[in-house]
Amino acid sequence: MSAPLSCAIGNLQGLWKSLETYDGLNTIMAKDIGKEKFVYEQFQDPERDAFISGTFPSDFAWGCATAAYQIEGGHDADGKGEGSWDAFCRIPDKILNGHTGDVACDSYHKIDDDVKLLKDLGVSHYRLSLSWPRILPSGFVTDVNQAGVSYYHKLLDALAAANIQPMVTIHHFDLPKALDDLGGWHNELMAVYFNQYADFCFKEFGSKVKLWITINEPKVFAVYGYDFGKFPPGWTHVGSGTYRAVSIMLKGHAMAYRTYDMKYRSTQEGQVSIAFNSFWSQPKTDSDADEAAAERFRQFELGGLAHPIFVDGDTPKSVRETIAKKSSQAGLLCSRLPPFTEEERELLKNSADFFALNYYSTRLVSNREVDPQSLLLPDIYADFDAEESFDPSFPRACSEWLYSAPWGFRKLLNWIKKNYGNVKIYITENGFSDEDGPMNLEDEDRIKYYKAHINEMLKARLLDGVDVRGYFAWSLMDNFEWAEGYRERFGLHHVDFNDPQRPRRAKASAKVYAKIVKDNGFPE
Ligand code: GAL
Repeated sequence: MSAPLSCAIGNLQGLWKSLETYDGLNTIMAKDIGKEKFVYEQFQDPERDAFISGTFPSDFAWGCATAAYQIEGGHDADGKGEGSWDAFCRIPDKILNGHTGDVACDSYHKIDDDVKLLKDLGVSHYRLSLSWPRILPSGFVTDVNQAGVSYYHKLLDALAAANIQPMVTIHHFDLPKALDDLGGWHNELMAVYFNQYADFCFKEFGSKVKLWITINEPKVFAVYGYDFGKFPPGWTHVGSGTYRAVSIMLKGHAMAYRTYDMKYRSTQEGQVSIAFNSFWSQPKTDSDADEAAAERFRQFELGGLAHPIFVDGDTPKSVRETIAKKSSQAGLLCSRLPPFTEEERELLKNSADFFALNYYSTRLVSNREVDPQSLLLPDIYADFDAEESFDPSFPRACSEWLYSAPWGFRKLLNWIKKNYGNVKIYITENGFSDEDGPMNLEDEDRIKYYKAHINEMLKARLLDGVDVRGYFAWSLMDNFEWAEGYRERFGLHHVDFNDPQRPRRAKASAKVYAKIVKDNGFPE
């Protein structure tokens, strides 16, 4: 039911757009007329940045997210196989300070503690990932580790007992090492192996899971693993490593989606998607050249993955043509971007039940003239013909890539709506890091980040009619932040990594998030 449309918010009028057509509106308050509130000093444009009151629909999903390798530990417990990260962390200088996920938050032994944290937050959902090497040590379904399977059953049962719905990611950056040795995501057969593994997961856990993510952030994993060498398998196939790995991951996802359709959907009645990360790319100036560069950046960054699934089975034409042209100018006989066959395009098209978005930050993007050198030494960023930067006034997190610009979040949500129709969206990650150091539970910067971003999401939902259905904060607790080890802390809960018990302590942000969850937004 629509709420009365007569409510107005003074100078916020400019924010109102399509309320007449919006059906999920709950409440929005008029009390702030003429005295807008802002979360950040840096962002005080009344039209863009004013903080609004209002709530989300009553069935909105509130959650936290984690990933297996980042929290579980138990790296060789009870028959788990060696994972790609287990091996990668042993290579000198790959991970900051030589850190590993051997113990991490020890969540393998702390199901009750973790579920208690979730209960205290009052969230309705928890996004977790399954460790492929814990379930299938050598990667194949002929080799099942029952203890690993039992661990996830116990976790899912504990969540059910606490009335918390799981969202389960099948593959979040960690592969069985044995599959990396077969070429990882550069091996065409990985799509088939992944489909087999996904089939196993649907069959085994599907009666307990209604929301599935097949693969987390194919692009990030591919760029760091296959182009930059910073994630396993540590390869530097500059200019083509990412495209090849992403293409095979998308096919693996689409196969798993069809498997769910054919074998499980009618009885399990769940939904399946794939999680994409994206920054918002904001033109640095209002010149036409920068506007065009920013749009190119969006199409390369998100369109390259989302377009095949949400539009027509293929990479956007502009992206395909650009890479083909640059490949040919560099004297290559075929494009660095592998083409999809007609059959693959059919498989990919409409292979998601919702849009899963990980959003963290915004880039300023300007046009970059083609550097002839970039044609000889291809690099995926040269393909964009764009240059990214940050406004130094954006509040910066510990992660060098993370600057807070909440308004970019709303713009990106609107861009998704415009490009992919009014698709259901779940925000599967959003969060802020600070630096390891003396324990600080008063995490003001994280609180600001969450308040401002959730408020922008509220504007997207209430004012723009974007169909956002849920939000998962990254992360439930501090954890192993990949190549940065334990230096970057993203948690709503602090974890003491020097204490063998790995105690968790609520930060101030956990209390603020719990209140937002309880209030279902910002009612007053
Ligand atoms: C995402 C990733 C998470 C987490 C987060 C913060 O890219 O999915 O595992 O590391 O970034 O950097």
